[in-house]
Amino acid sequence: MLYYLSLVAVLAFGLVIANPLAPPAKFGDKPFPNGSCPFPNGTDKAIYSYMCADNEQFTITDIQVTDKNSNPIYPVDPRQEFILNLTTYNHGQQIDDNHVKVKIYQYETTYYSKEVCVWADVPTFGLLNNIDGCDFAHNCPLTSGPLFLILPLDLSQFSAIINVLAAYKPYQLEIRMYNYNSGNTKHEEIACVMAQVELS
Ligand SMILES: *[C@@H]1O[C@H](CO)[C@@H](O)[C@H](O)[C@H]1NC(C)=O
Ligand SMILES: *[C@@H]1O[C@H](CO)[C@@H](O)[C@H](O)[C@H]1NC(C)=O
Ligand SMILES: *[C@@H]1O[C@H](CO)[C@@H](O)[C@H](O)[C@H]1NC(C)=O
Repeated sequence: MLYYLSLVAVLAFGLVIANPLAPPAKFGDKPFPNGSCPFPNGTDKAIYSYMCADNEQFTITDIQVTDKNSNPIYPVDPRQEFILNLTTYNHGQQIDDNHVKVKIYQYETTYYSKEVCVWADVPTFGLLNNIDGCDFAHNCPLTSGPLFLILPLDLSQFSAIINVLAAYKPYQLEIRMYNYNSGNTKHEEIACVMAQVELS
């Protein structure tokens, strides 16, 4: 008993020395109530995005989310059609045809620790692996130079996925676009954007 007490004392003392500014750690504290993770990157207030690859044909500097009538909405209800408005720059040729792959992640604590949050894969059963960007979003061609990429998203056909998503949690969409211009056989990736969002 004495051994454990002094071990605890030594550990606690070590923590205080290591970081004198940190509030004293209390044993049994639950950092994230009920095992929920804090919203990263201000996603409790607004959608947040960043590029997930460098040196690609499209750069994306801003993202807005609205309803069909261009009114800002937040959080986003995936059961209703919504529109992503991406402020982009096309550094290369015009894109007349593109394919899109989407992965969905949920921000949650790990099995091993309630103090660590990770982006965990949400199974999408391959449904979002080969979306024809032009058919799905009706925004082709993507001209060269500065461009507002308007992505109207109607996810209702993916209800198998939407039904497993929980409300008022942080999610992340990894959106990768590939060049499918006629004559192009390489189908290189032209954009990768991460959109972090609270779903309702
Ligand atoms: C944790 O969950 C319980 C039961 O669902 C709820 O009453 C409580 O308000 C929750 N606490 C927080 C901090 O969310
Ligand atoms: C927050 O955004 C940055 C990029 O701006 C990203 O590197 C980081 O992983 C994001 N945080 C989380 C928890 O996703
Ligand atoms: C897209 O965003 C830009 C700037 O944020 C805005 O000027 C434009 O009207 C928006 N387009 C639509 C269709 O909402």
